[in-house]
Amino acid sequence: MKKLLTIIALLGACVAGMAQIKLSVHESATGEPEIPAEIFGQFSEHLGRCIYEGIWVGPDSSIPNVNGYRTDVLEAFKALKVPVLRWPGGCFADEYHWMDGIGPKENRPKLVNNNWGGTVEDNSFGTHEFLNLCEMLGIEPYISANVGSGTVEEMAKWVEYMTAPNGSMAELRAKNGRKEPWKVKYLGVGNETWGCGGDMTAQYYSDVYKRYALYSRNYGDNKLFKVACGASGGDYDWTRTMMKNAKRQMDGLSVHFYSVEVWEQKGSATVFTPAEYYNILAKTVEIDEILRNHIAIMDAYDPENRVALLLDEWGTWYDVEPGHNPGHLFQQNTMRDAIVAALNINIFTKYVQRLKMANIAQIVNVLQAMVLTNGPEMVLTPTYHVFRMFSVHQNATRVPVEYNAGTLMSETGRVMESFSAASSRDAAGAIHVTLANPLLDKPVTVELAFDSLKPKTVTGEVLKAAKVNAYNDFGKAPAVAPAVLKDIKKSGGVWKVTLPPASVAVLEIK
Ligand code: AHR
Repeated sequence: MKKLLTIIALLGACVAGMAQIKLSVHESATGEPEIPAEIFGQFSEHLGRCIYEGIWVGPDSSIPNVNGYRTDVLEAFKALKVPVLRWPGGCFADEYHWMDGIGPKENRPKLVNNNWGGTVEDNSFGTHEFLNLCEMLGIEPYISANVGSGTVEEMAKWVEYMTAPNGSMAELRAKNGRKEPWKVKYLGVGNETWGCGGDMTAQYYSDVYKRYALYSRNYGDNKLFKVACGASGGDYDWTRTMMKNAKRQMDGLSVHFYSVEVWEQKGSATVFTPAEYYNILAKTVEIDEILRNHIAIMDAYDPENRVALLLDEWGTWYDVEPGHNPGHLFQQNTMRDAIVAALNINIFTKYVQRLKMANIAQIVNVLQAMVLTNGPEMVLTPTYHVFRMFSVHQNATRVPVEYNAGTLMSETGRVMESFSAASSRDAAGAIHVTLANPLLDKPVTVELAFDSLKPKTVTGEVLKAAKVNAYNDFGKAPAVAPAVLKDIKKSGGVWKVTLPPASVAVLEIK
């Protein structure tokens, strides 16, 4: 029998069923870091309908498209200001041979996608299609290259093909229709090399990494940022070994963390009890401790703070929606996922001195997606709205916040804060505060306190739904869509905003 959710020391103060929070925004703090746009990064894999149908329909499709990329999805990406996109995997990357995806489409080999449902991969979306997409949208590409089943030569030549201004790889590229090299900054040297990317130990992989990284050269003025494969969740020994053996050869080290409690029983994306709701939230905020601990290890080996930490896969992972291929990882996305996204992004801002990128898994039709498609239809998910609302933090200067929220405990025994906030100042001087109220049954009133600022205006946008398991479905009016936050009041010179239960908001303060 399920234990009831235990709420301990629920809130700093509670008045007639409403939580009261005092949020101090320290706008006069100096020396604060910039919040990298890349913590709003995305991930795309040849998995299910992420690439095919989700992004790429081909120029002959009846689905409206621009040179093969579906128009509705392109527009959604543009509005999201996607800063960086990781591709082609995931596990797929370690069985991907890039030469299969160049040249005339009719000559490209058809392969079985062994990792993801045995789907036949026709390689019609390859290097040109990916890099042209990034270039068209101003997205920084993040290539995840094959270490598990690929050779050093194959990786070295891929880098040369993409970025060299001349030589035989550049000539081949030109023959395939692209004369100028692309700009490629991020190069992931293997993915999950402790698992689907080669099943290696950290000690062994640290040597392998150095060999592959060495021959991935900089061509012309292209400067690679080389990322070594990092730990799964709280595997701190992996980080220690990598930092000890290979820190000099890497620019970044990754980590992956999915909000899953029991892998064999992940639960439904849309049908869940209040206890299951809090279980996922309490699991997802574990990322706070995981980032802190990895960073402490990196600080010890790299006190100069040269090597970045990249959380290049994260998000919720539920049971596949009924009727879908179990290997395609298609799941719906509810208000619960919106809160998960908000809690994570707010946490990321705490660690941006070292955490320089995060890539939610995945951008379309897979796991905690931004958009979902069904043939010609497309919906924006609740997670999409959070990414769009919170994008005000991209490249803004962090502003420290403090608040007096209490904690709550999930039935799985995890303790989490009952409120979440982060803040930044943009280039024009506006302060933004992003907020989440995870409580299912209580609104929260937030009293804003500043060092010395006396705001003239406070405006906001809120994301909420009639039910926490509401989602945006095909052919129906959106059940979860942002709206103006109306409950903003000023009295006696003090601004107060009220967030409904289970909601996410962004404030603009001028
Ligand atoms: O995102 C789905 C899979 O999760 C990725 O392919 C892999 O890297 C991770 O295990």
